[in-house]
Amino acid sequence: MSNYNKLLNNLEKLQLLKTKENINDYLNLINDKKIDVVQALYELTTDEINMKEEKAMQGCVKVANFPYIKTLDDYDFSFQPSINKDKIIEFKNLRFLENKENILFIGSPGVGKTHLATAIGIEAARNRQITYFINCNDLINNLKKAHSENRLEDRLKFYNKYKILIIDEMGFLPIDKDGANMLFQLINRRYEKKSIIVTSNIPFGKWSELFGDPILANAILDRLLHHCHVFNITGKSYRTKDLIELSDDTNRPFLTYYANLIIFPFLYIVIFPFLYILVLTFTNKEHIRICIQK
Ligand SMILES: Nc1ncnc2c1ncn2[C@@H]1O[C@H](COP(=O)(O)OP(=O)(O)OP(=O)(O)O)[C@@H](O)[C@H]1O
Ligand SMILES: [Mg+2]
Repeated sequence: MSNYNKLLNNLEKLQLLKTKENINDYLNLINDKKIDVVQALYELTTDEINMKEEKAMQGCVKVANFPYIKTLDDYDFSFQPSINKDKIIEFKNLRFLENKENILFIGSPGVGKTHLATAIGIEAARNRQITYFINCNDLINNLKKAHSENRLEDRLKFYNKYKILIIDEMGFLPIDKDGANMLFQLINRRYEKKSIIVTSNIPFGKWSELFGDPILANAILDRLLHHCHVFNITGKSYRTKDLIELSDDTNRPFLTYYANLIIFPFLYIVIFPFLYILVLTFTNKEHIRICIQK
């Protein structure tokens, strides 16, 4: 085996795959005296590091379990003026994470709570901060299941290891006392140690009804809200924005009004009875014809 092939084998064993891919080109450049050895080694190692960082970043995004990949750049802040854009963009520097602060997005459906939580999570994951996204109901079910299998501690440790835990849709479904208890244990462990991002469509005032245990609800809220950036999003749903635009069209209400007032009664009173009589007449004629033939 030639030295060149031995070198390729070593690069493969060392998992220096980018270097293995580029080495031939660089050897040619060195031989042609277009680049010196030090520069070649520097560029080869830089490419290798970049590739490894990119892979690690992609790995962090993959394990985070995001529902979709949407970034802060994909968010149309002009559609949601109740959000302080500068404050959201500031999260890109991940200082909230260093300060162990939480973020809470509250608002009605479709205003972009999950989008923003995911986008901030992606920003963190791309900076190799391990992040995990989970729906609140799934989280509670997983904790309950672990409890019934005598491994609650392991599960709590699992959710606690992430630098950011995103709990989506808190309060979409009611949470019983056991669920609230386990959620409290998790939030209490992370309190002042690691960040949590929560999305909810329930205002704080109603959380005690939601948890079925006002004391636990208060204890959870207390810990979440201490060192927390709260965003109350009061705008319209992005999901139905096209429908809203249509209904804003000045001709629409006019058309809809007359559709309801004239077209539907006309259908029910004139067209449908007419069709009914037509069908009856036709089937009777057929019937008479068949009888005569017999
Ligand atoms: N301002 C916006 N700019 C761009 N896309 C948006 C915006 N707001 C929401 N979207 C998009 O609309 C869809 C719904 O948003 P999202 O899932 O974040 O809503 P939500 O507030 O979490 O709603 P729900 O309470 O029903 O869970 C997503 O595809 C999201 O990317
Ligand atoms: Mg959502």
